[in-house]
Amino acid sequence: MAGSAGRDGFHSTAGFILAAAGSAIGLGNIWGFPYQAAEHGGGAFVAVYLFFVIAIGVPVMLAELSLGRATGTSPVGAFLRAAPGTRWWTVGALGVLTGFFILSFYCVLAGWTLGYVGKALTGELTSGLSPEQSRAAFNAMLAGDAMEVGLCALFFLLTIGVVQFGVSKGIERISAVLMPLFFVLMLLLVARSVTLPGAGPGIDYLMSWDPSKITPKVVIAALSQSFFSLSIGMGAMLTYGSYLSKDQPLAFSAVSVAASDTMIALLSGFMIFPAVFAAGAEPAESVGLAFHTMPTIFAELPAGQLFAVAFYVLLVVAALTSAISLLEVVASYFIDERGWSRSRAVWTSGAACFLLSLPSATMDGVMDTMISLTFDYGLPIGALLISLFVGWRMPISKARAEIAGAGASFPLAGVWSFLLRFVVPVAIVVVLVGPHLG
Ligand code: TRP
Repeated sequence: MAGSAGRDGFHSTAGFILAAAGSAIGLGNIWGFPYQAAEHGGGAFVAVYLFFVIAIGVPVMLAELSLGRATGTSPVGAFLRAAPGTRWWTVGALGVLTGFFILSFYCVLAGWTLGYVGKALTGELTSGLSPEQSRAAFNAMLAGDAMEVGLCALFFLLTIGVVQFGVSKGIERISAVLMPLFFVLMLLLVARSVTLPGAGPGIDYLMSWDPSKITPKVVIAALSQSFFSLSIGMGAMLTYGSYLSKDQPLAFSAVSVAASDTMIALLSGFMIFPAVFAAGAEPAESVGLAFHTMPTIFAELPAGQLFAVAFYVLLVVAALTSAISLLEVVASYFIDERGWSRSRAVWTSGAACFLLSLPSATMDGVMDTMISLTFDYGLPIGALLISLFVGWRMPISKARAEIAGAGASFPLAGVWSFLLRFVVPVAIVVVLVGPHLG
């Protein structure tokens, strides 16, 4: 059962949804969302974010899934088949490149989380670190390049190890094991956090919102964050969609994936902020929430070490099921378009991406540049072009038939078309270009 004859594919709808949710749910939710919210006005950011997920994220995800399944191939090939003899394939190429860039910094971050599992296990994080000590320990890890590169390499090996086994035996199978583990750990951690004495202000922080805090900067950040968190705008969902058989429901899957991704982002806020407030720390610790602030809190908690280990294992699990989707996009280009064997494609692209991750791991500021290139340009431009393609060129009637095919229901087809053709492109252009006009 696959997009085209003889091609590997997801065996069940549940397996696909877990894998796609695994792609979406990642460091972007647990590490990124709380710090972006903290940096951009708490509840105001959350409100704009939710709006974008519904009005833009879900329509674009559905566009990617339908294009992927209709063509049965990864991004470059998908555009080549859907619009032969045109240059639309460059949109797929941009996606592969964006995925390659994202994976390069993503694995550095994921390496940090592996390092922190180690620190949690040795008890370092429950030794009662002061904020200064916690920060110093984090900076020491970043300064020790060999350690950081080694952890990044280890994470690459884990990712390659999964993707090498292919879609049904690698990606689908590992997601079916790791995602339930993820949900259990997450619920445990949220329950711990919201029952801490003094947790109340942390909950209010995310729930109360002041409309005057919605500035252009907040809107831009929320849009990019929604693309990144949902894994859309570079063809990851397109690629996963290409592994679906015709009887698997696209609209239902897209809504399930977006809903679980959003729920986990919000739950991450409810995991981190109550703990931060309960410990009297500052929510505006930005990037450092997960690595500076949390370590100062574990020592204060009953069973703090368990809490610490669970927290960083949670991050590793989230990162792994996301990184495999990024590597799959790059590798599937070489498999589908160049005829490479899966192992050759996976090891070559994994090794090349590891080389690209070295500057992010060892040089100041490079990771920020990578993040900005992909958040500010790669994903929004990719999402814009995908929405224009599926909305205006594919043609959209074909996409609608794909979504409604094999007896699947597609109740809001008209709303989807309208959002994809008008709202999505206009909103992305306004958000991207607007701030530059003055
Ligand atoms: N969505 C993941 C996260 O939130 C990261 C990710 C995986 C991603 N695949 C992607 C982001 C494709 C953009 C595109 O951490």
